[in-house]
Amino acid sequence: MGAPVAIADVAQAFPGRSGERLALDGIDLSLAPGELVCVVGPSGCGKSTLLDLVAGHTRPARGSVAVDGSPVTGPGPDRVMVFQEHALFPWLSVADNVGFGLKQAGVPAAERESTVARWLAKVGLTDAASLHPHQLSGGMRQRAALARAFAMRPAVLLMDEPFSALDAPSRDRLHVELQELWRETGTTILFVTHNVREAVALGDRVIVLSSGPGRIIGDVRVSLARPRVVESERVVALAQDVRRLLDAADQLGIAAPRGGEDDHVVI
Ligand SMILES: Nc1ncnc2c1ncn2[C@@H]1O[C@H](COP(=O)(O)OP(=O)(O)OP(=O)(O)O)[C@@H](O)[C@H]1O
Ligand SMILES: [Mg+2]
Repeated sequence: MGAPVAIADVAQAFPGRSGERLALDGIDLSLAPGELVCVVGPSGCGKSTLLDLVAGHTRPARGSVAVDGSPVTGPGPDRVMVFQEHALFPWLSVADNVGFGLKQAGVPAAERESTVARWLAKVGLTDAASLHPHQLSGGMRQRAALARAFAMRPAVLLMDEPFSALDAPSRDRLHVELQELWRETGTTILFVTHNVREAVALGDRVIVLSSGPGRIIGDVRVSLARPRVVESERVVALAQDVRRLLDAADQLGIAAPRGGEDDHVVI
């Protein structure tokens, strides 16, 4: 079962050309156990920075981050990250990749094998168990990465644009699969994307960040029936509302100007 996450008055700063530059400011965000919360915002607004703080890769300049009531002071097996690039080990088979974290955690071989087999089956990769990552499609690689993450039974799953590099049909399938795995496991998920429709399709809530520094400018509850898909009319309509929030922030000068190639929020 997932754990609660409490982010309170968090700011993060990095060295810039003229001293410290704020990447995030005044972030107050709580996730209930088992909640799936999406964070959307323009490139550079601090989405990955936020995930790093919850993962314990970095410490905030101000404020606090707690998971299951305990302050985050570093990485831990209760929090697992899934990246845009699958980050599988190229020299290991799919099965060994999925079992890697379990092996590190000292799970005995027999138990490991059955856990790996179960998760490979759940993501439809049973037949690919002995293949290596370079023999898989992009969608299969992200499935393997999902199996590896869920096999660790994390209390909190941190997902950083995990489907952004996939073609639309693979991404759509993974959206449905992720919602099923999430429902089955009750994992708390913090899912970062620059794709507004994806955020609305997946999230119980969509947190909207402005950039320069990243601040929360919207917290939109999505109560549409699941599983949801990005093409659904109601998802598209709600995504337009979220998009309007981002545009309004832009016009007020809250967000950095958009339009550059790598500064994209897509709907
Ligand atoms: N280690 C670091 N050192 C210095 N600056 C950093 C560091 N990490 C992030 N930043 C800066 O903090 C800001 C937020 O970066 P972050 O990677 O969190 O954005 P993002 O919303 O994830 O962007 P994208 O959508 O492009 O992935 C950016 O201005 C970035 O340059
Ligand atoms: Mg990022």
